[in-house]
Amino acid sequence: MNRKLALATILTLVSLTACHKSDSGSGSSASAGDTASSGEAIKFVKTQDGSPLEIKPELFDTPAAKEFLASGKNPYVGKEDAIKEGKKIFQLYSCTQCHGPDAGGQVGPALTGPNYHYAKDATNKGMFETVWNGTNGGMGAKGKGLMDPTDPNNGITPDELLKVIAWVRSHGQATGNEDS
Ligand code: HEC
Repeated sequence: MNRKLALATILTLVSLTACHKSDSGSGSSASAGDTASSGEAIKFVKTQDGSPLEIKPELFDTPAAKEFLASGKNPYVGKEDAIKEGKKIFQLYSCTQCHGPDAGGQVGPALTGPNYHYAKDATNKGMFETVWNGTNGGMGAKGKGLMDPTDPNNGITPDELLKVIAWVRSHGQATGNEDS
């Protein structure tokens, strides 16, 4: 009986300290309404000027997109099914018209690297930002809600864009997931 009580006390104490620890560790980062992405998220910047680029976390609605939002790595690179879909999406969004059927360049530049007009496009996060929000030099924003501001459903989703990038990488030497 006595032992049981002691054990219960210890357990309560342990859980209390554990609770306390995680409380003090999380700081003030948990803001209301931020439920879509519970963990850490990478910060996007505009290719135009490096200023912050806000993309709604709820648009990252697949496991791969969530992983990308947390790590900046594109889980679709090297995945055959995703690459196949990426090719279709590349055609669907007319990337082909300007960048060529194999992303080797046409009106727009080649996308296969290793050299890029915007050096950051060697990384998947950088290329994502460039396609999502466009450039000042003739590349229009393709992100959901940005491609046609009158139609919030127009434009490419994060998941689709990651597949497109996986397809583009399949034509180059690098994965874009290397640490830069
Ligand atoms: C109307 C023509 C056009 C279309 C359509 C288009 N692009 Fe572009 N894109 C361009 C031009 C022009 C540039 C060069 C922009 C610059 O230098 O600022 C560019 C630049 C880029 C870059 C940067 C390359 C570098 O060297 O840094 C990427 C990545 C890119 N486009 C991807 C895409 C993808 C993916 C799509 C389809 C979703 C697409 N583009 C659709 C014309 C286009």
